[in-house]
Amino acid sequence: MTGTGALAGRTALVTGAASGIGAAIAEAFAAAGARLCLADRAAGEGLEAVRDRCAAYGQHVVDIHADVAVEADVRRLFAEAAERLGTIDVLVNNAGILTERHVADLPVALFDDMIAVNLRSVFLCSQAVLPGMLELGFGRIINIASQVGQKGGAGLAHYAAAKAGVIGFTKSLAREVGGRGITANCIAPGPIITPLGGGLSEEWTGPLLAGLPLGRFGHPEEVAPTAVLLASDPGGNLYTGQTLGPNSGDVMF
Ligand SMILES: NC(=O)c1ccc[n+]([C@@H]2O[C@H](COP(=O)([O-])OP(=O)(O)OC[C@H]3O[C@@H](n4cnc5c(N)ncnc54)[C@H](O)[C@@H]3O)[C@@H](O)[C@H]2O)c1
Repeated sequence: MTGTGALAGRTALVTGAASGIGAAIAEAFAAAGARLCLADRAAGEGLEAVRDRCAAYGQHVVDIHADVAVEADVRRLFAEAAERLGTIDVLVNNAGILTERHVADLPVALFDDMIAVNLRSVFLCSQAVLPGMLELGFGRIINIASQVGQKGGAGLAHYAAAKAGVIGFTKSLAREVGGRGITANCIAPGPIITPLGGGLSEEWTGPLLAGLPLGRFGHPEEVAPTAVLLASDPGGNLYTGQTLGPNSGDVMF
């Protein structure tokens, strides 16, 4: 291992790293000493700007454009990441979309797209990263779910279904690979101020804000340290199959 940060010597791949929570996790990982592969489907400056911010911490950072809902893209992403960085030992499945529609008016295509981007991608990326982790005998898989997957939300049934699916998938994976040195956990943030949440209607955000014990929405930088904890040794060692909730108190277990 080189360096002194909590993630020194680790090599992490973060999906959806061009914006919001993924960008904040990437930067926190870089600050903690990890080498990084940043993936996003978005064209434009977002991914390159995040790459440059992370590289400023002195880490080796590569960025790869890929759509995690497309199986061939995921295969290309992980092959290229392995070629350029070696074994990925931390995976953050963060890429996600959010649309709002009541079930009675929800087009099948919108439901299918939600499942493909927010749930199927978690399976595809986890399956792609596992061979290297199994060979290494170490791995940390961190899936970004949502508090909506725990409590549901009017107009968000398709999003809630995908995120609840992520939580169930993660618990099952944790049981499969725990004996091989690999952990799998979820982070289920509450409302966080990012471009994703900006499109939500007042029907959803008004009552939500009023009911939050902390009385405010969060910022991506307040979610990222939970990902650093789960990826770190010894801090993350005993978490597996868990769902951690940086959520302003929206959901309590
Ligand atoms: N913002 C919130 O309030 C909130 C709350 C709970 C959970 N989340 C979850 O956090 C994650 C990040 O959301 P955010 O708020 O930072 O959103 P964001 O829109 O700021 O960032 C999401 C990123 O994912 C990328 N992306 C989307 N689909 C992709 C695909 N198919 N392939 C590759 N990249 C793709 C986008 O280009 C974007 O850069 C999502 O999974 C979201 O569901 C967000």
